[in-house]
Amino acid sequence: MEDSPWWRDAVVYEIYVRSFADASGDGVGDLAGVRSRLPYLAALGVDAIWLTPFYPSPMADGGYDVADYRDVDPLFGSLADFDDLVADAHAHGLRLMVDIVPNHSSSTHPWFQKALAAPKGSEERDRYMFRDGPSSTGDGARQEPNNWLSVFGGPAWTQVPDGQWYLHLFAPQQPDFNWRNPEVREEFLDVLRFWLDRGIDGFRIDVAMGLIKAPGLPDTDPGFGATSPIWSRPEVHDIYRDWRRVLDSYPGVRAAVGEVWTDSAEDLALYVRPDELHQSFNFAWLEAPWSATAFREVIDATLRAVPAPTWVLSNHDVVRHTTRYGEGAPDPSIGLARGYAALLAMLALPGSAYLYQGEELGLPEVKNLPPEARQDPIFIRSKGEVLGRDGCRVPLPWSGTAPPFGFGTGGSWLPQPADWAELTAERQAADPSSTLAFYRRALAARRALRGALPDTMSWLEAPSDALFLARGRLVCAINCGTEPVRLPPHERVLISSGALDGPDLPPDTAAWLYTAG
Ligand code: GLC
Repeated sequence: MEDSPWWRDAVVYEIYVRSFADASGDGVGDLAGVRSRLPYLAALGVDAIWLTPFYPSPMADGGYDVADYRDVDPLFGSLADFDDLVADAHAHGLRLMVDIVPNHSSSTHPWFQKALAAPKGSEERDRYMFRDGPSSTGDGARQEPNNWLSVFGGPAWTQVPDGQWYLHLFAPQQPDFNWRNPEVREEFLDVLRFWLDRGIDGFRIDVAMGLIKAPGLPDTDPGFGATSPIWSRPEVHDIYRDWRRVLDSYPGVRAAVGEVWTDSAEDLALYVRPDELHQSFNFAWLEAPWSATAFREVIDATLRAVPAPTWVLSNHDVVRHTTRYGEGAPDPSIGLARGYAALLAMLALPGSAYLYQGEELGLPEVKNLPPEARQDPIFIRSKGEVLGRDGCRVPLPWSGTAPPFGFGTGGSWLPQPADWAELTAERQAADPSSTLAFYRRALAARRALRGALPDTMSWLEAPSDALFLARGRLVCAINCGTEPVRLPPHERVLISSGALDGPDLPPDTAAWLYTAG
């Protein structure tokens, strides 16, 4: 593969491994399953895949609780399966990125087990965030060291038998590392090298903005703002400078994308300074409602601040966008049409795009999963009050007319809706009017223009509920309103997300136009 900065305009496909394809027949997706579907991904037309964690894990948070950073959980296969997958992905022209989880380990990680067994103040405890509670715990007084809450609900602290507390910004089974400890830093540099030596093309960094906490761990208010003692502390950037040096020391181009939730594009931009990460996810786009004004604001703020942006509509942590865009609409099925239109807008923008498995099949969020099937710690910790993220993690329907729809031979760890028979990849591949066929056409259209478009874009004048975005000779028109809008002048239509009405673009539709320039 060439030495180009491939990540700049790559279309990266997120594989939530346990729900993608199951080769072993145990109802859980695995690496061999991913490998068996590489031809499908190559035919879809993506440039790279990102694998969510497949490391040894008790699966308290779907594998984001890592017990060993240098191995593969038997549930997902072996290191030999991983090596085969890397080789085969490359043979299919696909880059491969893996997820790295540096903010916390599993509570079963040997370091945490040693920390539990060691006394207060020991070197073992210093690799994690152990603290004493306040000295006075009178009536009603808080017992935890501070007021921090877990992202999954409840306090971010759990007490151990000798009275100390440890910090976990997520589940209690995910203790936070102490990133001010040099041993932790060294360990992760070594983990990076371990996977880079196996030939991967890059990393997706979990909770990248959380590693360093403010000295003294002062109380906080919710939010990701610059004054938070939890998120985006200035010293976190030193970590990524060290990581960048490791990435750059390898042949070829190895990239890193940070999962960074911030309140502003300016904070996001700090992570992608030239000596830090290559990219960070731009969640503002995903959080924007179906509105031309909102889309334009996000696009402008992003492009003003971030040199090589990313765009993402769905991932394994949020409600699928076909469902999201239908919420509150008179007819929720409009979400799918809007999803098509948003895809064209996303693929027209400068930068790279991240797709989430199943969106190319138009899968909706599954809202009616039986409570006993749900596994998300958010659901479990909130005692069912918050549904959590299982609804976007239902295993993919590949073929056939009954569950598990070719996912594997041993059922699926979350039940699939019976009406997904209509949505299998097999069925859609044979139907030119399917979502899959549309995704293939859209990705092919983007490829055909690769290298021919400037890195910048401008706005053409458009009616208030529409956007006309121009990049060289490409104009993407998107109509978020309720009335048709007249398309701007063009030579021909390259692709549209739905039928056009003569010279007009109907509501909830987008089109790529080739213009005289
Ligand atoms: C990230 C992951 C999410 C996980 C959390 C804790 O947000 O995307 O799935 O639960 O980190 O690791």
